[in-house]
Amino acid sequence: MTGMLGAAYPWVKAAHIIFVIFWMAGMFILPRYLVHHQEGLAIPGEPERWIAREDKLRRMILTPAMILVWLLGLLLAANLGLFEGGEGLGWLHAKLVLVLALSGYHGWAVGYARKLRTGRANLSARTLRMVNEVPALAAVLIVVLAVVRPF
Ligand code: HEM
Repeated sequence: MTGMLGAAYPWVKAAHIIFVIFWMAGMFILPRYLVHHQEGLAIPGEPERWIAREDKLRRMILTPAMILVWLLGLLLAANLGLFEGGEGLGWLHAKLVLVLALSGYHGWAVGYARKLRTGRANLSARTLRMVNEVPALAAVLIVVLAVVRPF
């Protein structure tokens, strides 16, 4: 129902943005960890340290923040009438496509960390550094869509 959040609306939106910050902080740092982890595969003691850091980041920040961003974001979308075919929500459809892609990237990065854990690295250091830029690019596009709402 449109406007269903009532007085809770600004609080839900604030919480959405707070957990977006936590999720994005984790999304910026995990790919960087992957570069260091991969470069340290042959150094005794290094892989264990990166595995522990990656596990902690995933358990304490990445997974909980992503779940909360999705839950709060879907509540806000329902509040705007997305599920009742509300008008003028082209920006939100585009944003949802991008956040789905970002969630896929999240899954890929966690999967690559698992691969490194078994000593397998199938991306070159250069490619890994390039894919590091994906979350920044996604964040720019998502924030522009959410704030400017160009369509
Ligand atoms: C994961 C799924 C997500 C969903 C379903 C979602 C949905 C929404 C909705 C419906 C609003 C509009 C609230 C309103 O004005 O009433 C909103 C606001 C916002 N979202 Fe998201 N969002 C998601 C993820 C993200 C991500 C990943 C970012 C940033 C990287 C982000 C940044 C923002 C910002 C900055 C606003 C405030 C816009 C404003 O009020 O001017 N969101 N979100």
